[in-house]
Amino acid sequence: MNAQNTVFGGMIMAKCDRLALVVAERHSGHVCVTAAVDSIHFRAPAKGNDTLLFSLALNRSWGSSMEIGARVIAENSYTGDVRHILSAFFTFVALDSEGRPTDVAAAKPETEEQQRRFDDARIRREGRLATRKELDAHDREYHEE
Ligand SMILES: CC(C)(COP(=O)(O)OP(=O)(O)OC[C@H]1O[C@@H](n2cnc3c(N)ncnc32)[C@H](O)[C@@H]1OP(=O)(O)O)[C@@H](O)C(=O)NCCC(=O)NCCS
Repeated sequence: MNAQNTVFGGMIMAKCDRLALVVAERHSGHVCVTAAVDSIHFRAPAKGNDTLLFSLALNRSWGSSMEIGARVIAENSYTGDVRHILSAFFTFVALDSEGRPTDVAAAKPETEEQQRRFDDARIRREGRLATRKELDAHDREYHEE
């Protein structure tokens, strides 16, 4: 809890990371690590007496990486008031017993909503990988100077 009597954002993020890990490890059957977290938006504050409901789902997988979407809802159990608190996207990478990235099964969207998330995940991945490439190039330049 912070001085505003609202829940500390880092605590919610850490719980999402832990739950996303479970989704990634259940899907892949491997030890997984967090490679990236993006588009974290705190949409509304969670108050001390709210119940937090965490929804996480695998959106898509590629080679060894998987995107897991997280959505957190705060519910006031007394009034029934419900607020959307957070959304975020986690990228996990599955590792083999040597600690190297290893391929995972493809995600199979079944509903229209899952198909939408599957399609959107491709766009987000392109952004992530482009950012990573630029940062790597910049780091190399920086260290050469
Ligand atoms: C994640 C990690 C295993 C990737 O290793 P790497 O040597 O960069 O391996 P690669 O370049 O072969 O990438 C492996 C996969 O990760 C994906 N990946 C790596 N960095 C990424 C990023 N920033 N965003 C999205 N995907 C990323 C690649 O796209 C690739 O996915 P694909 O197989 O589905 O195409 C490595 O960077 C690592 O160990 N990071 C630290 C992880 C960790 O400790 N997390 C906890 C933090 S406390």
